[in-house]
Amino acid sequence: MNKKLADAINTQLNYEIESAHVYLAMQGYVATLGLEGFENWLGIQYQEELAHAKKFIMFMNERGARVEIRGFENPRNDFESLLEVFEVSLKHEKGVTDRINNLMKIAHELNDYASISFLQWFVDEQVEEEDNFQKLIDKIKMVSDGGGLYHLDKDLATRVFVDPNAQQ
Ligand SMILES: [Fe+2]
Repeated sequence: MNKKLADAINTQLNYEIESAHVYLAMQGYVATLGLEGFENWLGIQYQEELAHAKKFIMFMNERGARVEIRGFENPRNDFESLLEVFEVSLKHEKGVTDRINNLMKIAHELNDYASISFLQWFVDEQVEEEDNFQKLIDKIKMVSDGGGLYHLDKDLATRVFVDPNAQQ
């Protein structure tokens, strides 16, 4: 694989692990609020980010590119509110989308069709990620009373991890 693209993908796979840490820290914050459903949901999000990193690692290995694991920034551990957790998450995911789009741009410049095909999965995944967080923000804003939040929390307790790498 072209070195510029391999380096950029390597940076991204490290960022996916960093994203996992971001959601793990958020899970710790919501645990202090006693919201077990949100705790579950963010724990699944953590697993998803690690699965994204794994997906990039498998691709790099398949293409004969060397994976290099680096150190990570400290995630944010404290928040003002449940709503802020998800507003920060949506902003984070929009940043990830920009990064994926940039990888796709490099792959196009290089006419690397295998990478274009591979990266399309992440382009589609980011549409879903942004939609998930936007919908949760809308729902959190909708539930003004404790009863509503109780039911939303119960809903989120049902999220289960589906390994994207096992679906192929
Ligand atoms: Fe991700």
